[in-house]
Amino acid sequence: METHEINKRFLDYFEKHGHTKVPSASLILDDPTLLFVNAGMVQFKPYFLGEVPPPYPRATSVQKCVRTGDIDEVGKTTRHNTFFQMAGNFSFGDYFKEGAIERAWELITTAQDAGGFGFDPDRIWVTVYENDSEAAGLWREIAGIPSERIQSRGGKDNYWDMGVPGPGGPCSEIYYDRGPEYGREGGPVVDEDRYLEIWNLVFMQDERGELSPKEGHPPVGELPKKNIDTGMGVERVAYLLQGVANVYETDLVRPVISRAEEFSGRRYGTDHADDVRFRVIADHARSGVMLIGDGVTPGNEARGYVLRRLLRRIVRSVRLLGVHEPVLPEFAAVVRDAMAPSYPEIARDFDRISDVMRAEEETFLATLTSGSKIFDLAAEETKRSGGSVLAGDKAFQLHDTYGFPIDLTLEMAAEQGLSVDEDGFRTLMEEQRQRAKADAAARKAGHGDLSVYRQLLEDHGETQFLGYTDLQATARVIGLLSGGEPVRSVREGGKAELILDRTPFYAESGGQIADTGVLLGHGVELRVHDVQKLVPGLFVHRVEVLAGEVGLDTELTASVDATRRASIARSHSATHLVHAAVRGAYGRRAAQAGSLNSPGRMRFDFTTPGAVSADVLTEVEEEVNDYLQTDVEVQAYTTTKDKALEMGAIALFGEKYGNDVRVVDMGDYSRELCGGTHVERIGQLGLVKLVGDSSIGSGVHRVEALVGQDALRYVRKEQLLVSQLANTLKVPTEQLPSRIDDMVTRLRNAEREIEQLRVQQVLSSAGSLADKAQDVGGIALVAERIAEGVDASGLRALAGEVRNRLGSRPGVVALFAPSGEKLSFVVATTAAARDRGLAAGKLVPAFAEAVGGRGGGKPDMAQGGGSKPGGIDQAITALRAAVGAAPTG
Ligand code: SER
Repeated sequence: METHEINKRFLDYFEKHGHTKVPSASLILDDPTLLFVNAGMVQFKPYFLGEVPPPYPRATSVQKCVRTGDIDEVGKTTRHNTFFQMAGNFSFGDYFKEGAIERAWELITTAQDAGGFGFDPDRIWVTVYENDSEAAGLWREIAGIPSERIQSRGGKDNYWDMGVPGPGGPCSEIYYDRGPEYGREGGPVVDEDRYLEIWNLVFMQDERGELSPKEGHPPVGELPKKNIDTGMGVERVAYLLQGVANVYETDLVRPVISRAEEFSGRRYGTDHADDVRFRVIADHARSGVMLIGDGVTPGNEARGYVLRRLLRRIVRSVRLLGVHEPVLPEFAAVVRDAMAPSYPEIARDFDRISDVMRAEEETFLATLTSGSKIFDLAAEETKRSGGSVLAGDKAFQLHDTYGFPIDLTLEMAAEQGLSVDEDGFRTLMEEQRQRAKADAAARKAGHGDLSVYRQLLEDHGETQFLGYTDLQATARVIGLLSGGEPVRSVREGGKAELILDRTPFYAESGGQIADTGVLLGHGVELRVHDVQKLVPGLFVHRVEVLAGEVGLDTELTASVDATRRASIARSHSATHLVHAAVRGAYGRRAAQAGSLNSPGRMRFDFTTPGAVSADVLTEVEEEVNDYLQTDVEVQAYTTTKDKALEMGAIALFGEKYGNDVRVVDMGDYSRELCGGTHVERIGQLGLVKLVGDSSIGSGVHRVEALVGQDALRYVRKEQLLVSQLANTLKVPTEQLPSRIDDMVTRLRNAEREIEQLRVQQVLSSAGSLADKAQDVGGIALVAERIAEGVDASGLRALAGEVRNRLGSRPGVVALFAPSGEKLSFVVATTAAARDRGLAAGKLVPAFAEAVGGRGGGKPDMAQGGGSKPGGIDQAITALRAAVGAAPTG
């Protein structure tokens, strides 16, 4: 059975049983506790916690998931995967254990031609949580599973939570016995390879705190209702039903391996090391495509870093398979063809996905080259010093700076007959990991425990946001925290987090920064510095008490700084217009990758292939300013997500929870999903001036613009600058460019002349230096100190010139040029001297120590530097002795 068919059957079955089909959420759902969505229940979390009323009592979905805990293991075994799909059914306070068991059992054991998955009931085993005799009883009654195939396990295996505070509950897992060829008898408690887990039913009833019930800590509370969250591993079911051994052989993954076989001419299944590479390519290509599809771009932090790592591991594996051309877009196309039937957006957005992959591959191939040079130098140095082990810090530098995975370094070292100090490397890696961990812990502590805010949300509901229409309102204090702890009151001079029942203050989100302003009451005055939604729907004002004392229940008049807000609104509206214009210029391939709307200034990041030309940006600016003149009204309204998408609204990744969305229209020019605040009519923007664009890596471009008065001030400043320049150069402004060109050319010519004169001057001393040659055992030796200020290349030129003048004689030229505390030197030999065994490079060690230096080079010319100019005479003596010791001939 094809994987898409498995997904379809699952969804259809549950829809038939009263579940609403819900599409997979984006992999990067807005949840501060998660890097990527890693389970089907994530998009429903607020429903389980009771933060948001569920729009339906039952739901079913197939969720795309990414888990990145053990990227390094991927490929080494056939078990690990970074991308997978989880099919699930969910009940929000509707059916519980009995319903979940009944449904799961029916679906897996119903014959395939009757719409089920057709698993043999006699090969199914289940596990239940410690004392959950209720679940065990239900398995016996409903499914008729005999007691010996029902095993009980502790929290570690049979309690499920998200790994962080949130919903959780005991679970019951369904296993399929693959037969004796896969391992020992005795059920899942004995062997989880032979008995393969296919489905996990979680009886979601608890709220876990900082510590997990998995480790035996009691939950901190009960959820408002008893719920069901199940997750069936689609890939596992697929390989069982397709009669293959593991996920890499399934219909969705194997095609990528086949493509890699075509490229490399090698065969999967013939060599373990190659197989690891094939699997890395297949797994990571899939994750990469899906992540980029959801808006992640390669970078050096968080999600972007994970993506970068995945893509680089592919590039490296491909090279190790002997392929040197860029290939990522090719693999992406295979993934697209495999995945698009379930995820059509991948096909729609393919050009962009492929562009991002291509750009990252190019970037890495570039560092791969410079990294290889660093490697070659390090290898050469190791060998020169007689060693055979490449230093751990070199391997670390290659990893850290050039993105070289250690096994690439190992392989390259082996080719050169070297090994690598892996222990040293690992120690440095560990130190770096510890630093990262400490950073993460520090950041987490900054977030604090969110349970207080969640409680406030539960007690009072969401904060009513008035700020779309009102900038001033009276409101009541319903929550007050100091240092993360609830307090009754805060006095003058104190800082606090304050929650109101309603507020005109906009909380930072969607790229729009938070409002600031004041809160006033009887004898109380507070300044609002920042507003954040720490849990969805709850506006937390960060305030400072300027006068009086504020307590719970205090009535306050909240006033937003209106000038600042208007300026932010102008920026935000400008962002929408610039976005629309950029899309007009580049099409769908230009996807928004981030934005920032602050007073008077906006920033807009977007991905697009290749360079962004200045002409296009000028057009964007023209078009936006042209459109301002229509002065259309900005319209905002709420509708359903589907409706909005149907109307062609631009939706960004990082979706929000819930089905209702707000749409902002600016005539027929721009339509976006947006929760931000905007101007009433676009004429209010006055002027939008693009002030710069830059590339911020891997196909992501950044344009910045000033809006309104700020734009005007900017133009004025530029104008002033130009007129100052015109004044200084005493030409009319329009002649500035040609005048400056002129000046630059003249300057360049003058510099060139000076350089030539300097070289001539240096070389003019060549004759007198050659005259100073002394005969040392038949060799003409010129060993002299040169005046200060001759640089290395001048010195080389001079030595070459002196050597020329020695003609066909056997001769050695050694020149020393002190420069402050340092010196440089050069040694050159004539052909006749070399015939007598005098190599320049070999002469250096004879005197280098005297000048505190080192150096080396070829037989005809060697060069180096030192730190003891005082030792030059001694060096000359040492050199003379070395030349004198040369065999006569
Ligand atoms: N949340 C559970 C899991 O991830 C079941 O869906 O296994």
